[in-house]
Amino acid sequence: MRTVKPLLCVSKHLAPLRWLSKPRNCSNAARASSGEKKTGVSDSFRRQVASGPRFQDFIKSPPVTLAVNCEHTDEHYLSEDLGLLGDARKVYFETYGCQMNVNDTEIAWSILQKKGYQRTADLKQADVVLLVTCSIREKAEQTIWNRLQQLTAMKKKRLKTNSPVKIGILGCMAERLKTELLEREKLVDVLAGPDAYRDLPRLLAAATAGGQQASNVLLSLEETYADIMPVQHASQGRSAFVSIMRGCDNMCSYCIVPFTRGRERSRPVSSILEEVRMLSEQGVKEVTLLGQNVNSYRDTSEVQFCGSERTKLSRGFSTIYRAKQGGLRFSDLLDLVSRIDPDMRIRFTSPHPKDFPDEVLQLIAERQNVCKQIHLPAQSGSNQVLKAMRRGYTREAYLDLVDNIKQIIPDVSLSSDFISGFCGETDDDHQQTLSLIREVGFNVGFLFAYSMRKKTHAFHRLQDDVAPQVKQRRLEECISVFREEAERVNAAVVGSTQLVLVEGESKRSAEDLCGRTDGNMKVIFPKEDVAVQASASNTAPIRGGGYVLVKILSAGSQSLRGRALSHSSLISTPTPSCDGYK
Ligand code: SAH
Ligand code: SF4
Ligand code: F3S
Repeated sequence: MRTVKPLLCVSKHLAPLRWLSKPRNCSNAARASSGEKKTGVSDSFRRQVASGPRFQDFIKSPPVTLAVNCEHTDEHYLSEDLGLLGDARKVYFETYGCQMNVNDTEIAWSILQKKGYQRTADLKQADVVLLVTCSIREKAEQTIWNRLQQLTAMKKKRLKTNSPVKIGILGCMAERLKTELLEREKLVDVLAGPDAYRDLPRLLAAATAGGQQASNVLLSLEETYADIMPVQHASQGRSAFVSIMRGCDNMCSYCIVPFTRGRERSRPVSSILEEVRMLSEQGVKEVTLLGQNVNSYRDTSEVQFCGSERTKLSRGFSTIYRAKQGGLRFSDLLDLVSRIDPDMRIRFTSPHPKDFPDEVLQLIAERQNVCKQIHLPAQSGSNQVLKAMRRGYTREAYLDLVDNIKQIIPDVSLSSDFISGFCGETDDDHQQTLSLIREVGFNVGFLFAYSMRKKTHAFHRLQDDVAPQVKQRRLEECISVFREEAERVNAAVVGSTQLVLVEGESKRSAEDLCGRTDGNMKVIFPKEDVAVQASASNTAPIRGGGYVLVKILSAGSQSLRGRALSHSSLISTPTPSCDGYK
């Protein structure tokens, strides 16, 4: 899940706050104001809302950030029944940020759908507009502020036409900015943090009933939405994201995620397996397991899995928190998930390099349907910078891990994240990053200029002392080295035959189709009927969601071009190699 430019795509994420606890079932609604038409709510509901606490009651009482506080009343002033009122109102979603947000949109929609809302893809038709937001960098937030300006102008116009629209901010920016968003953008009606989506129907009901602002930004130690089956909207329904854990305990010094997504917690294995089975029955051909530190997965909820084994880290890696103990680990989960449907590709993102014990690597190597593609965020090639970032490894440990991965999975495709211009980064540090990019040979990169975030360790302890134009220059140099390397790595597959999962028509030409290799490289090839299987004489058209064998004819830094040979399947195709299946 990422939002970036082509070569550079985007990300995913999360985090902890010591005082955060399980979400309570109450909402902090705000001042009641004028009633609105088209609400579908009863008079008794309006009266309940009017006599409930005001928004100011919450934001004045410390701690402000806890925001939800119903202790002064014995009863919830909005009952569960009244919160059910979707009344066929149409919801329009806009999703920003990482894959976690794509999955969260599906979870939020699943919750609202059950309460009688409808979904629309047409903003003009919407009664409720929900932005699922990202805070990872200043620019990501600026995009949302700009969008809010446009939406509030639309909202004012709609008020005059007697077809009011409600605006809600969900996700990381709601969590980070909390009441600032409600106060600065007075026309925002609802705020829901990443752990508060179950409360959305109630928050929307409160906002609809009396024109109140309503918010819940409590983070949770336990919420994994395990029982909520997301309504998948991924490419043609053939690939899907499955969230397996939430939050992040790593506290890298530059990162806001631990403050927007809360403590790390894993979803119980049984509910993950159930979702993957369901997706397989629906014909989904590719599942990406999601989490901010996805390979730190550890489910201790099921008694039979509660061993005493501590988390084994990759050699040379450390954490700032104590090693987790017992439970079912990522390698166990990957094993179970990959057995469900041998014709379904399994990917995972985003992993941390510290959590790649040999068991995980061997499983990837052995299991036909686990893609030989690993995202290995490095962030920097300089030990001085890695230490300031609190990444828990050195350049040498990272490169040793890369060697180990290449030894166990010889045909692996590697991608990575890098930050240019972190606090204290010198030109020499930057040169070391360039040399690491050259040394590893990634084929995809997500590259960013450092953006200081409030609350982080770096904000409190370090100086954002690299000038913006220097950050930009270094970023561009990283991009250009990445491109050269990606072209070199991709050129090595020219002449091979790759198993490609077809996504559909190419965006550039209706004459072409596009799909992805096992290594997640995009392949463009002409739309034509091909043999139903290798060496068969009858042919059939190629459709999205099917596998085809494609001969690779040329390669660029961001995609490959080829020609389809025949229909195929994962089961009937040997693991790819650079020599291909010739
Ligand atoms: N949990 C994932 C994703 C983290 S956010 C991981 O650890 O890989 C995705 C990427 O955004 C990070 O890997 C990092 O490269 C980048 N990033 C995070 N915080 C940033 C900041 N403050 N400025 C610039 N880039 C940042
Ligand atoms: Fe952020 Fe680090 Fe956690 Fe990734 S591992 S989400 S970069 S704190
Ligand atoms: Fe993802 Fe952005 Fe939040 S990258 S976890 S949506 S801060």
